[in-house]
Amino acid sequence: MFETTVLTRPIRRPRRLRNSEAIRRLVRETTLTPGKLVLPQFIIDGSQRTEPIGAMPGRSRLTIDLTIDECRRALDLGVRAFALFAAIDTSLKTPEGTEALNPDNLLCRATHAIKEAIPESCVITDVALDPYSSLGHDGLISEAGVVMNDETVDVLAKMAVLHAEAGADIVAPSDMMDGRVGAIRAALDEAGYTQTAILSYTAKYASSFYGPFREALDSAPVVAPNVPKDKRTYQMDPANSREASIEATLDEAEGADMLMVKPAVLYLDIIARLRARTDLPIAAYHVSGEYAMVKAAAQNGWLDERACMMEMLTAIARAGADCILTYAALDYARWWREAFA
Ligand code: PBG
Repeated sequence: MFETTVLTRPIRRPRRLRNSEAIRRLVRETTLTPGKLVLPQFIIDGSQRTEPIGAMPGRSRLTIDLTIDECRRALDLGVRAFALFAAIDTSLKTPEGTEALNPDNLLCRATHAIKEAIPESCVITDVALDPYSSLGHDGLISEAGVVMNDETVDVLAKMAVLHAEAGADIVAPSDMMDGRVGAIRAALDEAGYTQTAILSYTAKYASSFYGPFREALDSAPVVAPNVPKDKRTYQMDPANSREASIEATLDEAEGADMLMVKPAVLYLDIIARLRARTDLPIAAYHVSGEYAMVKAAAQNGWLDERACMMEMLTAIARAGADCILTYAALDYARWWREAFA
């Protein structure tokens, strides 16, 4: 029944190198260490307050003081970089997102406080209008309901300078306006912030997997006359991949220091495509919906959270991402320590 002849025996048997964990570790091609992860933080005003985010189990909005405590715990686990998002009070939101240009706004205060408390951390700030806009869009909207490009870029450049002033190491425009990287670079240099880096959301898709994030910031586009109902006139069409190359070429020429692909898991081909055509570091954003779906399935007992989350993050690194923004950064760092350290 199990007869086999010498002639049919394979010379190459890839299974030889899978025989033990010791051998597998020798030949493993991708090792994702906690230092490659960026933890996104949602910040609220006040002190000693935490608000759990319903659609993101395990993650909460935190006041600045508690954010600093969490950053310290992260550093102990080897995670040193943080992407800050301000969940500002609804009363501060206006159609033009004016609070974005208040030098004393929540994001600037948080940036300053974290860099003062933990100078060795890397703080990445979000440059876009949606956290400040009562309309829920990343840019300024004309009366006719058009997201205005160049007018928005002017505001973004000013925002980036405020963030640099507050101490940001890296500013990250997440808005997808055309020409914003060049304008931000020029504004930063003009203001003397030649060492502030730009992480551009280069290929950011109009994805439906941002839902939990919009809950965290209460930032979904509002339903109103002359307000676009979605972000498809600026974020990329999920059906496109060549277009990501065009965006990458532009961002590189405009002076981006790092390029980002977002979401990550559904867009591994885009990560690999950009990896093949740029020498710049590539970041990938493991977005809120990608995180939430593993959490939800795990809560139902349908998936093994630890194994699935580690596999997902490793796959993103294998595709070519140098660093990964993920809400699972602290979990991963703990699991990694248990498994490998
Ligand atoms: C908006 C922004 C979004 C995310 C990061 N910045 C949402 C959006 O574009 O509507 C999503 C991140 C996530 O889902 O984890 N500038």
